[in-house]
Amino acid sequence: HEADAYRTDLMTITRFVLNEQSKYPESRGDFTILLSNIVLGCKFVCSAVNKVTFRILKLGWFGQAYWTCRGHKYPGMLIMSFGEEQKKLDVLSNDVFVKALVSSGRTSVLVSEEDEEATFVESSKRGKYCVVFDPLDGSSNIDCGVSIGTIFGIYTMEHSDEPTIEDVLKPGNEMVAAGYCMYGSSCMLVLSTGTGVHGFTLDPSLGEFILTHPDIKIPNKGNIYSVNEGNAQNWDGPTTKYVERCKYPKDGSPAKSLRYVGSMVADVHRTLLYGGIFLYPADKKSPNGKLRVLYEVFPMAFLMEQAGGQAFTGKKRALDLVPKKIHERSPIFLGSYDDVEEIKALYAAEE
Ligand code: AHG
Ligand code: MN
Ligand code: MN
Ligand code: MN
Repeated sequence: HEADAYRTDLMTITRFVLNEQSKYPESRGDFTILLSNIVLGCKFVCSAVNKVTFRILKLGWFGQAYWTCRGHKYPGMLIMSFGEEQKKLDVLSNDVFVKALVSSGRTSVLVSEEDEEATFVESSKRGKYCVVFDPLDGSSNIDCGVSIGTIFGIYTMEHSDEPTIEDVLKPGNEMVAAGYCMYGSSCMLVLSTGTGVHGFTLDPSLGEFILTHPDIKIPNKGNIYSVNEGNAQNWDGPTTKYVERCKYPKDGSPAKSLRYVGSMVADVHRTLLYGGIFLYPADKKSPNGKLRVLYEVFPMAFLMEQAGGQAFTGKKRALDLVPKKIHERSPIFLGSYDDVEEIKALYAAEE
C-alpha cells in the first residue's frame, strides 16, 4: 500500500514532552519551551557539523595549491585551517546554546564546558530552570568526521529569588531531565525526564526529531568494554584487574570486544543500545579521571540508571556525588547492570 510508506501519526519530541507534562496538572509548558530551545540548538549544531567539510574545502581552495609530504603532492585544501575550524565549531556551538537557552526565558543559571564561569541570566529573562551542558563533546573527532555530540542536564531552582551557584552545585539525583544529541550517521537525541529513556531521530526533510527508540533499556550484561587503554600504565588495581578480566575471563565466558571512539556521546550511545561498559577511570596522572561531573558524568549516569544500568565512580553511585566546583571531574564506570556490579566488587575488595 502506498499509504503504508508514510507514517502519518508522528510522535515529535515536542508532542512527546507535552504528553508527559500533561500528567502534571500544575505544568504550564515551561519545560516544553525550554526543551524546544535545546532542540533548536541541536539542529543548528547538527547542520554546522555537516557543513564543516564544506567550509574547509572553500577556505583551502583559495589557499595553497599543494603541500608535500615525503615527496607526495597533496591538494592544499586538505590542510588548510583545520585547527581553526575546530575551535570555531566549539565556540559556535556554545554561543548557539547560550543564546537559545537565555532567550527561552526559562533559565536562570547556565554552566557550559566552554565557559570558565557560570552564566547568570539577567532578571528580565529568568525562569525556573538551570542547565548544565557540554555544547560539543568529542571535539578531537571533528576534523575526521567521526561522531560528536552535545550533552545536557537540567535542574530546577528551589528559590525564585536571586539565583546563586548553589543552584547548580547539586547532586545528579536532583536533575529533572538529562540527555544528549549525537551528530553521527544520523542525528539522534536521547532524553530522559525521569520516566525512562527515549530516543528521537532527526528527520532532515521535516526538521523534526521523531520518536524512533521508545523506552530504551540497556541489556543486563554486554560483551563490549570501552576505555582509553593507552592510559593503562597509570591505572589503579581494580581498573587494571577489571580490564584484564574483560580480555581473559576467569569463568570461561568469551572475552569482551573493545570499542573506543573517544567521543563520550558516541561511546555511551553504543553502550546504551548494545550493552557493556564505558569507563574513564582515575589514573596516576589524573586522580579524578578526565570527565566533568556536572555536564558529562551526571547526565550520562542519569540516562544509564533510567535505562536500567548503573553508574559508579569507584567509590559510590555517581548520581550521589555533590560537586563543589562547576568544572569538577570524576572517574566514571557506567553501563550494563551486571558489568558495573563487577567493577564495584573489585573496588569493594580493595578497601
Ligand atoms: P570534549 O571534547 O568536550 O573536551 O570531551 C572529550 C572527552 C570525551 O568526549 C571523551 O570520552 C574523552 O574526552 C576522551 O578522552 P581521551 O582522549 O583521553 O581518551
Ligand atoms: Mn566533553
Ligand atoms: Mn566539549
Ligand atoms: Mn573541551
